[in-house]
Amino acid sequence: MTATIIDGKAVAAALRQDIAARVAGLGFRPGLRVVRVGEDPASGVYVRNKDKAAQQVGFDSATIALPASTTEAELLEQVARLNADPAVDGILVQLPLPPQIRADRVVAAVAPEKDVDGFHPLNAGLLASGQPGLTPCTPKGVMHLLKAAGVALPGARAVVVGRSNIVGRPMAQLLLAADCTVTIVHSRTRDLPAECRRAEILVAAVGRPEMVRGDWVAEGATVIDVGINRLPDGRLVGDVAFAEAAAHCGAITPVPGGVGPMTIACLLENTLDAALARRG
Ligand code: GUN
Repeated sequence: MTATIIDGKAVAAALRQDIAARVAGLGFRPGLRVVRVGEDPASGVYVRNKDKAAQQVGFDSATIALPASTTEAELLEQVARLNADPAVDGILVQLPLPPQIRADRVVAAVAPEKDVDGFHPLNAGLLASGQPGLTPCTPKGVMHLLKAAGVALPGARAVVVGRSNIVGRPMAQLLLAADCTVTIVHSRTRDLPAECRRAEILVAAVGRPEMVRGDWVAEGATVIDVGINRLPDGRLVGDVAFAEAAAHCGAITPVPGGVGPMTIACLLENTLDAALARRG
């Protein structure tokens, strides 16, 4: 079987264009603030890309870079200032945070209506109970890709590999909301390959390079690879052994150029949604 490559760059570009057109007609600029603490190099790249994409669609966007020595109290004060700032519609605190700061305290301090990451317990609870709220960007991007690829969701057997709060859990909730039959598998699952082989839709979000092998993939399945892993030799690979999986599946996302670009596009979408909701 020759697998279709799902082009995340193209789907993301179309979504960004649509957002830019809607922003142009608003009469105000949605405000986004990205907070970064410390010098994690990967975070630096992600934050710059988010800021640039936000400027390109016409947002009032800025990055607030704080030193690695920032205390939890100082970061909470910064978040409180952004919560109170009427020009700010979306707040994103880039993770991971330095060890002296408890990330869960910071996530819970962001005003839920400005929580464009969708990580606040209120937004997580709304998603889990099937109510509207702000939804985490990466799983939201995966749903856009499945739609763009024309994948039939109601009744489909979906398997999510990984149970993180950022991807795995919200991913499973979104697939469930779309009427899939959802299984979450993880490091303690007894027979991972066998569980994955049952999937018509397989979403890998574990952060382990090329863990999902070709013989874990059912013939004709749709494979979504959320992983972005840098190998010692510098190569960027996903959580799926791409060539092996592509020999079995019907459609697959590449790394890079699959889910990655969708995460930023969905951050922009969440920020626009938050701005419209806040400003009526
Ligand atoms: N670190 C890795 N992914 C993310 C994300 O989606 N949002 C934030 N805030 N930090 C991250």
